[in-house]
Amino acid sequence: MNSTLIIYESKYGTTQKVAHILSLILGPSKLCNIEEKVPDVNIYENIVIAFPLYEEKSAHHIITYFKDHIYDFSKKKVCIVSVGLSKSDGIKYGLRLKDLIKKNDIYYHFIKGQLVIEKLDDKDKISLESYCKKIKIPFVDMGKFEDKKVINAGIKIKEYFDRPKNEAPREVIRKEIEEFIKENNTCSISTGYEDFLRSTPIEYEYFQGNFYFISEGGLKFVGILQNKNISVSIYENYTDMNHLNGLQISGEVELLDYWSSEYEKVLKLKKIGVDRFKNLPISMNIIKVKPSKFEFLYSKFKEMGYDIKQNLINA
Ligand SMILES: Cc1cc2nc3c(=O)[nH]c(=O)nc-3n(C[C@H](O)[C@H](O)[C@H](O)COP(=O)(O)O)c2cc1C
Repeated sequence: MNSTLIIYESKYGTTQKVAHILSLILGPSKLCNIEEKVPDVNIYENIVIAFPLYEEKSAHHIITYFKDHIYDFSKKKVCIVSVGLSKSDGIKYGLRLKDLIKKNDIYYHFIKGQLVIEKLDDKDKISLESYCKKIKIPFVDMGKFEDKKVINAGIKIKEYFDRPKNEAPREVIRKEIEEFIKENNTCSISTGYEDFLRSTPIEYEYFQGNFYFISEGGLKFVGILQNKNISVSIYENYTDMNHLNGLQISGEVELLDYWSSEYEKVLKLKKIGVDRFKNLPISMNIIKVKPSKFEFLYSKFKEMGYDIKQNLINA
């Protein structure tokens, strides 16, 4: 299991919010406040360390913990997330932490934090007010925390953590993906626009690297007409943890013109006569999906000596 431990400290709650959002996106994960009980770091493949910036006190609890507890991070992926007002401070204290835990290859992320004066304790209010006076900036609320920025960071960190350590050759991944697609015939397509989301089970045809779906119409077109992005998943029923087979595909969706050569080609593939469709009392639509990315969780990869999850990006 590619699991992640998210260790954080936070004085006024912003970094806690960041850590919680990341823990949801990076699951399977465990969220851990450094001031509480820290689980066994050794059992996790990935570690996120998130801390707020407070000048020389930045990451104080985390630094104290890692001074007392030495771990071997060489085989783990580590991401350091700093939360504050200044990115350069984030880099400065992130590098300090990197040296302490003795890990060369680290993924960094800076998240814009926020400063709400009425939330500060008296000591912080006084020190901040004198600092603002000194550098001649107004002593007012600063920064703006945005969930969206953390969600985007989560996507990037997940891509980094999910990059397989034992990557299968491209042609092997492609071959296994194509076989899996051909062994099955039904998928779920997810389409949506703004507040509207729709997941639709549908039979597919796979031909020359693209998916085709014949459809009478329906609410999936609310998304298809307004958002070219689509997600497709094909999976087998769960039996046990040694047989995990599921393929997630991201791609672009397109509606074929009626009676275009590609439309008629799909009918031919399905052994449907063009005249039969022309004589129907309703119109039949053909949706095409051009895949851009495949994410394949497939137990067979593990048997072959590779990571269970492999990705394939179409150029
Ligand atoms: C006393 C004080 C000192 C701060 N020092 C820094 C700093 O050195 N660099 C920085 O980028 N942000 C600094 N900040 C802003 C905090 O990093 C920001 O408010 C952050 O969102 C706090 O996170 P938390 O709510 O998890 O504690 C400071 C804030 C306070 C109150």
